[in-house]
Amino acid sequence: MTSADILQVRDLRLGYGRKMVLHGVSFEVPVRGLVAIVGPNGAGKSSTLGAVAGGNSLASGSITFEGENISGASPEVISAKGIAFVPEGRHVFASLTVEENLRSGTFRRKDRGAVEGDLERVLQYFPRLRERLRQPGGKMSGGEQQMLVIGRALMCRPRLMLIDEPSLGLAPKVVEEVYETFLRLRAEEGLSILVNEQSSRRVMRYADEIMVLRDGIVQIRGTPSTLTASALHDAYFGAGTFESGKAE
Ligand SMILES: Nc1ncnc2c1ncn2[C@@H]1O[C@H](COP(=O)(O)OP(=O)(O)OP(=O)(O)O)[C@@H](O)[C@H]1O
Ligand SMILES: [Mg+2]
Repeated sequence: MTSADILQVRDLRLGYGRKMVLHGVSFEVPVRGLVAIVGPNGAGKSSTLGAVAGGNSLASGSITFEGENISGASPEVISAKGIAFVPEGRHVFASLTVEENLRSGTFRRKDRGAVEGDLERVLQYFPRLRERLRQPGGKMSGGEQQMLVIGRALMCRPRLMLIDEPSLGLAPKVVEEVYETFLRLRAEEGLSILVNEQSSRRVMRYADEIMVLRDGIVQIRGTPSTLTASALHDAYFGAGTFESGKAE
């Protein structure tokens, strides 16, 4: 790890019951980096993100955030340190308004004035949310709900954001909008981002680094310009298979 890395994951092993699903996963996220974990169903992507967020207990390995070992810390402690986790599935509070959803993570904060500033800041990144502030979260489109859960996570001013499959079920144009916002957040706020996606296609234009996770092992890592389509395909499906499609 260099001081240029905000997150370092070393030799992560974890399982559920007796079944091990991560078999020694290692990677880093640079400060202001956008790193994507790509892989098929059941590869271990969510388990990896959950481990960093503090939801999954590790069998072994270490997780270091800004030079501090956070392995085994609770989700609350990890979130307080500056890591926001946006799990898969866009969990908005359906009956609360967009504004109430955005404020829901801030109730314990004492700096109420700063909360107003944060709300304004988030709405600048997601103007669509501003137009719908009084509408119930459950009435928003999938893309708007994705923006809402990202916006809610931003209200806590994280330095690292973990996002599980933000593209799932969204139209390509909306995916583009979400990733363009990630690039702005990184440039303007210095945010570092670790994202899970099923397909590398969607992150090729945005990620600094892509790693393919399959069967709980990082099969390949590299920048989008150095990873060839065939190397990605082999890593994703296993060399010698003839399945086609998703990896590229
Ligand atoms: N809570 C759990 N209890 C038992 N097994 C689990 C649990 N969560 C995940 N698994 C298993 O761990 C393996 C890795 O799952 P994980 O959800 O991390 O993969 P993933 O890459 O995120 O997959 P997907 O693309 O479907 O989201 C799978 O075999 C899955 O069935
Ligand atoms: Mg998953």
